Amino acid sequence: MDHPLQEKITSRTLRIAVVGLGYVGLPLAVTFAEAGFHVTGIDVDQQKIDRASRGESYIPDISSGTLQAVIEAKRIHFTTDFAALDDIDAVSICVPTPLRKTRDPDISYIISATQQVRARLHPGQLVVLESTIYPGTTDEVLLPELQSTGLKVGVDFFLAFSPERIDPGNPNFDTRNTPKIVGGVTPACTELAQAYYGAAIERVVPVSSPRVAEMVKLLENTFRAVNIGLVNEIAIMCGKLSIDVWEVINAAATKPFGFMRFLPGPGLGGHCIPVDPHYLSWKLKTLDYTARFIELAAEINSSMPYHVVNKINDALNEQRRSFNGATVLVLGVAYKPNVGDVRESPALDIIQELLARKTVVLYNDEYIPSLTVRNCLLHSQPVSSGLLQAADCVVIVTDHNYYDVPWIIREARSIVDTRNMTRGYNDEKVFRL
Ligand SMILES: NC(=O)c1ccc[n+]([C@@H]2O[C@H](COP(=O)([O-])OP(=O)(O)OC[C@H]3O[C@@H](n4cnc5c(N)ncnc54)[C@H](O)[C@@H]3O)[C@@H](O)[C@H]2O)c1
Repeated sequence: MDHPLQEKITSRTLRIAVVGLGYVGLPLAVTFAEAGFHVTGIDVDQQKIDRASRGESYIPDISSGTLQAVIEAKRIHFTTDFAALDDIDAVSICVPTPLRKTRDPDISYIISATQQVRARLHPGQLVVLESTIYPGTTDEVLLPELQSTGLKVGVDFFLAFSPERIDPGNPNFDTRNTPKIVGGVTPACTELAQAYYGAAIERVVPVSSPRVAEMVKLLENTFRAVNIGLVNEIAIMCGKLSIDVWEVINAAATKPFGFMRFLPGPGLGGHCIPVDPHYLSWKLKTLDYTARFIELAAEINSSMPYHVVNKINDALNEQRRSFNGATVLVLGVAYKPNVGDVRESPALDIIQELLARKTVVLYNDEYIPSLTVRNCLLHSQPVSSGLLQAADCVVIVTDHNYYDVPWIIREARSIVDTRNMTRGYNDEKVFRL
């Protein structure tokens, strides 16, 4: 394709903006800067802009050193001022897509960001949405808004959807080496979006439309949610049958084909797996269809924190203690190991249930210094022999690498292990999922 944007991509003169600098946007902005482009990072959060401008990363996957290197090379700068979009050739939108309390999609951040882009849309510009969204959003929400300027898609400006697949804390895969899906509104949109990401990302996979690209992301995350729901139910069934579910899974995983290892746990967490499938089921509800696998998996997964509370009950019962007045130490409140992200973490539900039963709750998480649950502000406690011995029950919710499991087993009075961290220790005081 012989398009001026193509030439700017090849010569690295394309001016790029990333709107929304969170777990997705900041790594993307740095990846483009490292590929030789000049990137403008835009966010509505002044604190994030100030920190990023000082070269202080607030995202664990990007070190401050990495950020400082691209700032010093003058490849990146940060602002809250959307007027910066006036000079921009390509913009990637990475704003949040949470659920409302009613579990309906909250696309207000996308609408607000799109309105900002619309106000500065100019001929030749490429706009790509990366936020996870229900199928049809790019065509039904972004396209009419941007075309209301009088500019025509595929001719005057270019629009595509490209889902982000980042896995925070993954040591092997980052923005650069995770294949990227792109689906443009027109073939020219797809081609330009493919060239844009291809300049910084190792492999770009084009699909025929934004709808397909939107659905790809939802398939990926629904696949995880449903399989985690299945293995959580298998864990409950194994518990009833007095079978060690972890032994079953490890043995099943020796099958070299037709089986994929998913692990049970205290419940889903993070911004994606508990949220994204509901975008799909909401959309299907508008078409009078019930997404049964999604609903069932959500029901099982969201019951897991209560299953853990029942295990804590078993542990306390062994000691003739009740929830009321007992001390429970929660180890790990992040939704997954070695990250400082507590969004949708099952630890929050577990702590909330314990507080409601008048239990004294203490927690440790070196990644999360403080936490508010049920209007109760809690602070992370350093793990010590004294702390472990003081608790009537220690609950391992997040398997952070820094936990010294043999020592915890020695010191604790009783343990509920939701992550199989105590494997190999058949101690009577350990209660597993
Ligand atoms: N975190 C993940 O692991 C992950 C993985 C894949 C996809 N996603 C998807 O990517 C999107 C972003 O997720 P995230 O985890 O980076 O969210 P985040 O909350 O970490 O970051 C979003 C950023 O957008 C900013 N923002 C909000 N409204 C804005 C606006 N109108 N203009 C400019 N900035 C605005 C916020 O201040 C915030 O800094 C979501 O749709 C999410 O589902 C997330």
